[in-house]
Amino acid sequence: MSKTQADRDGLITFRAGGTLLCLTAQVSERVQLLYAGPDLPSASAADFERLSTREHAPGGPQNPIANSLLNAIGTGYPSPPGLLAHRTGQDWVGDPCLVEAKQSETSLTLMTHDAACNISAEHTFDIDPGSGVLRCACRITNQADSPLALEWCAALCVPINPSLTNITSFAGKWAGEFQTEQTTLVRGSFVQENRSGRTGHASYPGLYLGESNTTENSGQAVARHLGWSGNTRLRVDHLATGELSAQAGELLLPGEMTLQRGESYATPPLYLTWSDQGYGPLTRSLHRYVRGQLCPVAPRPVHYNSWEAVYFDHSPARLMELANRAAEVGAERFVLDDGWFGARRNDTAGLGDWTVCDNVYPDGLEFLSEHLQSLGLEFGLWFEPEMVNPDSDLYRAHPDWVLQAPGVEQIASRHQLPLDLTRDDVCEHLFERIVSLTKQLNIAYIKWDMNRDIQHPGGEAGHAVMHQQILALYGLIERIKAAVPGLVVESCASGGARADYGILTHTDRVWTSDNNDARAHHAIMRGTAHFLPLDVLGNHVGPQKCHITRRQFDMEFRAGAAIFGHMGMEMDLTQESAQDRAILSDAIALHKRHRTLIHTGDYHRLSTHKHICGIGVVASDRRDAVFQLAVLDPHPTMHPPRINFAGLDPDQRYEIQSIWPQALDKSFGTFAGSALMQYGLQLPITNPDTYLIYHLKAAT
Ligand code: DGJ
Repeated sequence: MSKTQADRDGLITFRAGGTLLCLTAQVSERVQLLYAGPDLPSASAADFERLSTREHAPGGPQNPIANSLLNAIGTGYPSPPGLLAHRTGQDWVGDPCLVEAKQSETSLTLMTHDAACNISAEHTFDIDPGSGVLRCACRITNQADSPLALEWCAALCVPINPSLTNITSFAGKWAGEFQTEQTTLVRGSFVQENRSGRTGHASYPGLYLGESNTTENSGQAVARHLGWSGNTRLRVDHLATGELSAQAGELLLPGEMTLQRGESYATPPLYLTWSDQGYGPLTRSLHRYVRGQLCPVAPRPVHYNSWEAVYFDHSPARLMELANRAAEVGAERFVLDDGWFGARRNDTAGLGDWTVCDNVYPDGLEFLSEHLQSLGLEFGLWFEPEMVNPDSDLYRAHPDWVLQAPGVEQIASRHQLPLDLTRDDVCEHLFERIVSLTKQLNIAYIKWDMNRDIQHPGGEAGHAVMHQQILALYGLIERIKAAVPGLVVESCASGGARADYGILTHTDRVWTSDNNDARAHHAIMRGTAHFLPLDVLGNHVGPQKCHITRRQFDMEFRAGAAIFGHMGMEMDLTQESAQDRAILSDAIALHKRHRTLIHTGDYHRLSTHKHICGIGVVASDRRDAVFQLAVLDPHPTMHPPRINFAGLDPDQRYEIQSIWPQALDKSFGTFAGSALMQYGLQLPITNPDTYLIYHLKAAT
């Protein structure tokens, strides 16, 4: 990395992968982020420096105050500060100024120092050339002898184009993840806080912002996401000056972060991507980033998961039978869910006792491992390593191993308590148990679950250790993966409550939701796909009568939903009719035929009538595409509407085939891409609760 141009003219122009950052960078001065957004190839930092000049406004400071990397209190900038720290009430007015800037083709590091408080802040910016996604983070170091109490540090204070006042946020609940909500920002603040001790169902640490008229393919937009699996705060402030300023960072608990001399705190990374062609490109850039940098795409085996078939009612014979049926319909991996260990006959006991239950499995689980191998299935095993039931051998032996606040009653939740991963003995124990079982049983895949919020994350000394807990979790997963080469890990937390880029830096897919109701699932998938690509999203065919919503659906509908994702199934296959198993098997075969495309292609949300929900996946060369249309309610008109495809090459002719449900299998002939996108294809008359799937192939 070389010293930057800043040395010469006090400005930095940093562009890569279609993204442009322009900053002021005068040594001993504050650093101003002048522009962050889609690349404007003829523009440079000098343009923005001059364009950002403002005159004195009556009632305001004599010299208008510019934004800076942390909008620290000492600067007087009118947004909430991005840095809050003090030394028992002293040294609270910071103003970090540039010491040094270093830049390479795809990364930039800015070292700043706050002389009054003796704190240094190092900002790193990395632009992924493949996707244009910017990853930035800040490291605060205490340079003084007295301890520094850090209360808040945003990864970066980002100036946002002031016309982007339309916020799309993602809120949810168990079995109802990633519901998209629209808010128009007025003067004031939009703040989302998560104090659940995990990424959580309630508010996802990611937002899209657009103009009032931004659509899927037009208008300015930006997406932000904080890669952190613990407590978070995201805010967007619409200031009296007319500016928009955004922050995201870890929500620190009281007294959680005290830095002694020389100690540092690193914020979680903030991910940003911009678009001047609507929301669609944001999604595709984030998908490219996740595939390229976090969860490289490998062939994703079709799952069978035992949970809804047996819950805690295990027996060797049941598992053998389910494995046979799963293999028959085309499963490639069998995941044995909760209930195989200790005294875990229901959710009140045994959690934490990671030894195979010898009442249920007197000969261990080797029989299953061997049977799966003979069927050509990979063996996946469920763990919930971070938790313990008080009614367990582990807790009886080590009651001090749980997170707790002295003198405060634990909050009851699913009869379990969180273990303190900041203790070496706890991590050592978990590492030994998981690695030895994994090796012994030839486990290729771990479903890593986490089923409660952590409200009182007190460590051994009684202090809040939420930050350290998350780092310890990441470290433990990495250690296990290093000890078991090739191990694939799924992140599950009561469904999709841990689906952020922090956990995905260490795991390979997420369990999207416990709700496998095919009618509800399309909305959960659509919401989640704003940040995660389909290959990372577990999408399972459920039982005929959904266990969560009690609604009933035929197999065509259930299976049609799951084809677009990392496909799996989770039901008692012995209760499905032979006819339904045949349909399921056809759906799995169809998924396998188009799996590479679904798992690597560009994702498009279609604009449709309200009663239909449509998405598509288009190959990067635009010669191959599949589209899925969920018809959810009766068509309000005599004839259904036409559907406008997206992402195609307008000049290419495509052969279209309807490939699901099978009864509607038919070829329509070839059409111009432009006609398919602008005029659209007439939908057939179907009942509601039908998934229609079309395959489009370049004809020449
Ligand atoms: C919650 C998960 O979301 C389910 O899939 C299942 O693994 C249960 N936990 C098991 O306790």
